[in-house]
Amino acid sequence: MRLSTVKKIDSLEIVVLAAGKGTRMKSEVPKVLQPICGHPILEIVLHSIEGGLQNLGREFQINKSTINLVVGHGRDQVKAMVAGLEQNKRICSTVNFSVQEQQLGTGHAVKVALSNSIIYPKAGSVDLLMVVSGDLPLLTPDSLAQFVRAHLAMRSSASLMSARLTNAGAYGRVLRRGGTFYGVVEAKDATAKQLSIQEFNGGVYVFDRAVLQDALGKIDSKNAAKEFYLPDVFTVAMKKRKKILAHCVDDPNIVEGVNTMVDLANTERELYLRIARQHMLNGVRLSYPETIRISPFVKLADNVSIDAFSRVAGYTSVGAGSRIGSFCDLSQVEIGSCVDIRNSVVAQNSKIQDGAIVGPMANLRPATEIASGAKIGNFVELKKSVIGPRTNVSHLSYVGDAEIGSDSNVGCGFVTCNYDGNEKHRSIIGSRVFIGSDCQVVAPIELADGTYVASGSTLTESVEAKDSFVIARERQVTKPGYAKKYKRK
Ligand code: UD1
Ligand code: MG
Repeated sequence: MRLSTVKKIDSLEIVVLAAGKGTRMKSEVPKVLQPICGHPILEIVLHSIEGGLQNLGREFQINKSTINLVVGHGRDQVKAMVAGLEQNKRICSTVNFSVQEQQLGTGHAVKVALSNSIIYPKAGSVDLLMVVSGDLPLLTPDSLAQFVRAHLAMRSSASLMSARLTNAGAYGRVLRRGGTFYGVVEAKDATAKQLSIQEFNGGVYVFDRAVLQDALGKIDSKNAAKEFYLPDVFTVAMKKRKKILAHCVDDPNIVEGVNTMVDLANTERELYLRIARQHMLNGVRLSYPETIRISPFVKLADNVSIDAFSRVAGYTSVGAGSRIGSFCDLSQVEIGSCVDIRNSVVAQNSKIQDGAIVGPMANLRPATEIASGAKIGNFVELKKSVIGPRTNVSHLSYVGDAEIGSDSNVGCGFVTCNYDGNEKHRSIIGSRVFIGSDCQVVAPIELADGTYVASGSTLTESVEAKDSFVIARERQVTKPGYAKKYKRK
């Protein structure tokens, strides 16, 4: 490969195609919003693109880069999803939208993008346009960066990323004569002989902007799908004696497209395995990794271990030395270091601080915070509650809309009666509180620090004085010999 001398890219516009109906998905949800590993496909694609840009930025001076997203079908939902990513700073680039009113094909979609571009190229400058199909969730930042490098190094004018499969199914086939790439034929338009070609078009392209602009004006829709095919620009460019390149990657998974629910399941499995492998290489212990689902944006620190059949989703982070047992389902949870999450814990939008123990079989509903050294035991449900440092809620309890201070002990079978049928009310329980087994507090209520609640109490009034003893139950009646009266046998 002749090395390019190009070190500066004046503009790099990335056009992401996301306007199609995704007819073959047979779903109401726009294809690029279908979830894969818990995130919309498009979020994963945008993330890989940003990674690719960063990677390239280390080698090239890129004066301007921009993402131009072509939307059409389900555009409001797609725009709302991207706005959410921008708002939560999940992506750094600003995304410009181009609307393709009618989905007349991938070539037409790129034409729409170009007519709406915010890049104004100057003569003599290096202006690249990368096109990425929005349905490729397995692209990697490195593969994208490597592709741009190859385009520049080979001094290509129009390049596509290809790969090989024994049976390339519905993908467009890469045509070569004497090894030289000269065009793409869509599966729908291919002859039986062409269908036996193993090299296929991966749906990622890099163009010299001017070459693409010119070639796009010359493609038509005289084909089986009656659509403007983007890959037809290669034939046009070649006829104009422009250098064209099919950059074949070793791993066909990278360009595996999602067109049906079967593809979605396959790519999801592959992505989970890839993520698991990367964490293991970073020193995370996964037992039976093929059963563990860790989402792409999860952060795991050193010496984390996760047991079989658990799912760790969203933007969850897990601190050093923490252990997650099997059959857990954790989504959007901030987990400190040396936390012990035992089997079958479900947690959403919660925080668990250093050294806490949770489970087995606990349910942490949104807005729960467990301070360091606290212990939440089996069959405990927490909701919108803060559990203070070293406090134990060990068995069979419901704590909702509550705060419990530090070093308190909540006995078995405790319930915060937070709902009166109309509204939710809060329970504020102090530090060093001891609550015996089978107690209820009827909210709103406050228990001062050091309160001692006798077993079987139902508290309906706040306890204001510190270190009080409280009992709220019927007195026991014992009648010697009376048992016979009730026993028939
Ligand atoms: C396309 C390629 C095929 C390649 C395959 C790789 C064409 C004609 N064919 O086929 O050679 O092997 O990708 O995965 O390009 N889209 C629009 N507007 C449209 C049509 C499509 O934005 O009018 C978007 C879709 O939302 C999708 C992407 O373009 O994200 C690709 O479209 P899709 O229908 O999936 O093309 P394939 O049949 O997969
Ligand atoms: Mg596709």
